[in-house]
Amino acid sequence: MLLGDFLREGVSRLTSLYPAPEARNILHLLCGERLGIDRYTHVTEPSYTIPADYLSALSDDLDRLASGEPVQYVLGFEEFCGRRFKVSPDVLIPRPETEMLCAEAIRIGSLVSKDRSDPIRILDLCTGSGCIAWTLALDIPGSEVYGVDISEAALAVASSQDPAPERAESPVFFQADILLEPPVFLRGKFDLILANPPYIMESQKAEMRPNVTEYEPDLALFVPDGDPLLFYRAISRWAGSLLSVGGTGIVEINELIGDGTVAVFKDSDFQNVELMNDFHGKNRFVKFS
Ligand SMILES: C[S@@+](CC[C@H](N)C(=O)[O-])C[C@H]1O[C@@H](n2cnc3c(N)ncnc32)[C@H](O)[C@@H]1O
Repeated sequence: MLLGDFLREGVSRLTSLYPAPEARNILHLLCGERLGIDRYTHVTEPSYTIPADYLSALSDDLDRLASGEPVQYVLGFEEFCGRRFKVSPDVLIPRPETEMLCAEAIRIGSLVSKDRSDPIRILDLCTGSGCIAWTLALDIPGSEVYGVDISEAALAVASSQDPAPERAESPVFFQADILLEPPVFLRGKFDLILANPPYIMESQKAEMRPNVTEYEPDLALFVPDGDPLLFYRAISRWAGSLLSVGGTGIVEINELIGDGTVAVFKDSDFQNVELMNDFHGKNRFVKFS
């Protein structure tokens, strides 16, 4: 089968789920990975024929995509902050907005670590795939990073990551429910506390695409409409006892409740509480110290 024909068939099967340019991008990514070709091969080599022994696997992949499964779960990875992270249906697929949280955390953490001989300590609450924890561990060499999640299955994914084999600085991952008090074994203070907790209200589910709602874990996404700030109150309690003097917290938030989230941290006596936008100009982070 010609690559061009496979792409045409694929786009026509995916356009009920995705706008055509997005469907095309998904298929280019799939073919690039599975066939080891670049995204313009169908244009530059119009007679490129998909080798027969790849056809059955590609056709299975296309069936999974056409049923709505995200391409990241089909391929088993997502790029995040320039590295490849394993993903499975047990973890949220890392989002580009969260890369901004990491960039700000790396900026602050690098400044702090310049003036210190001992390692800076970082805590990532609701770690999921571990993308935040690993990125900080790798981009602030010598840092001591901890990642916590309630889901054992997510922690298994986080612990199995190998995003930079040449610099294996694994964070310490452990299981805990952040709605409860921090476990007693978590001693000492942290210079940075980061979190991307579940923050989508259940009533927002109806506006979301089925490839998210039917495939990504509810546990990672949703909070009850009646109490959308519950995770931020929990994070402020953890930070109240675990953030060092002069330390900084950064949390990702629901853009609809920016002011309410700011109020949670102000009410917990943090002196500097700042709302930050994402690249769409939406309220997306709260930084506190
Ligand atoms: C939005 S995902 C974030 C994953 C990852 N940090 C990221 O940014 O891609 C939220 C994570 O919070 C975890 N979680 C949900 N409830 C929790 C709880 N009570 N305590 C700890 N983690 C929880 C979920 O298992 C999920 O991995």
